[in-house]
Amino acid sequence: MQMTATLTEALQEWESHQKEFQVIQENHQRYMQNLHEVSEMQSCISATIAHQRKSLKDFLQSLKTKGLAEEETKHVEEIKEHIQERQSILSQMEAFLPKKNGIYLCLVLGNVNVNLLSKRLKAAYKDEYEKFKLCVTVILLLLAFTCRFFVTYRFVDALMNFLLVWYYCTLTVRESILINNGSRIKGWWVAHHYISAFLSGVILTWPDGELYQMFRRQFLSFCLYQSFVQFLQYYYQSGCLYRLRALGERHNMDLTVEGFQSWMWRGLTFLLPFLFFGHFWQLYSSIYLLSMAPVPGCKEWQVSVCGLSFLVLFMGNFFTTIAVVRHKLKNTSLNRSKSR
Ligand code: COA
Repeated sequence: MQMTATLTEALQEWESHQKEFQVIQENHQRYMQNLHEVSEMQSCISATIAHQRKSLKDFLQSLKTKGLAEEETKHVEEIKEHIQERQSILSQMEAFLPKKNGIYLCLVLGNVNVNLLSKRLKAAYKDEYEKFKLCVTVILLLLAFTCRFFVTYRFVDALMNFLLVWYYCTLTVRESILINNGSRIKGWWVAHHYISAFLSGVILTWPDGELYQMFRRQFLSFCLYQSFVQFLQYYYQSGCLYRLRALGERHNMDLTVEGFQSWMWRGLTFLLPFLFFGHFWQLYSSIYLLSMAPVPGCKEWQVSVCGLSFLVLFMGNFFTTIAVVRHKLKNTSLNRSKSR
């Protein structure tokens, strides 16, 4: 009797499992169908965007203002402006469509799709990137502090430089993925990380000796300072991201929001002196190393290579930062005059 009751219960439970499984199967089927449709739409939209880009380019080339009346020239200029706007809207659309990886990502990851297909996923990836930088910065700060004040083993220095090489290589991969997902990171900052990885690699191979010891202390102090600046940058950059998301603004609209702009300028004016001080420290390191290189006792090739790398880093960082600030100033005054 008890057996039958248990069997009936078991059969009822099995029935409910069956029903649940059927619902799962149906949902999954619908999901696969939607995926198929989405993938077809993606290919179709990508193709039409490519077509529109090409025809806009040809059209732009055919537009000539020579020999036109003033009114007609004005009209053509207006069309050219619209075409430029259209190109940037198309780029924003492409950020949500799968695309082929560049050479670097193809080499590192293979041809896997790294495009995140929603704003939420893109934002989460960017957040994770900023947090990753912060975590490694804390570790680097502790290591640089230990090496600078407590431990003078070449092995521990090498460990720190190895971490630096790994960190910068990882950043280049993450940044390439961010760029694929529509981030506006300037090419220089990515190049900066390639050069920094190269520089750390060269320091890693620098044999211990009098010259290495002479440079070591100031390099470690510079690493400490750079980690400190990285904290400030993290505060500024995550603040920008947080505010833009709260405003729900799009990239091309970022700079038009008054509240955001005043916060950004306050952040920048605080950050810039620290950044420029770091850039001139790089210049100082470069001059220090390049003046050491011609000394007769200097046999290590690492001295001049590191000196040159620091010089390139100084020039790139300094001029790019100035260009970024000038661009922001120009946009701010443009938006102010538009809103008047
Ligand atoms: N590394 C990585 N990404 C950077 C970056 C950097 N140094 N500078 C800017 N970006 C990113 C931004 O997060 C933003 O990304 P998003 O499109 O995904 O939102 C994009 O590039 C555009 O940023 P932009 O508006 O041009 O600049 P910003 O206001 O975010 O930052 C600076 C401006 C000057 C503060 C920033 O470029 C910077 O810190 N530069 C100095 C770096 C340096 O010199 N380091 C060495 C110190 S010793």
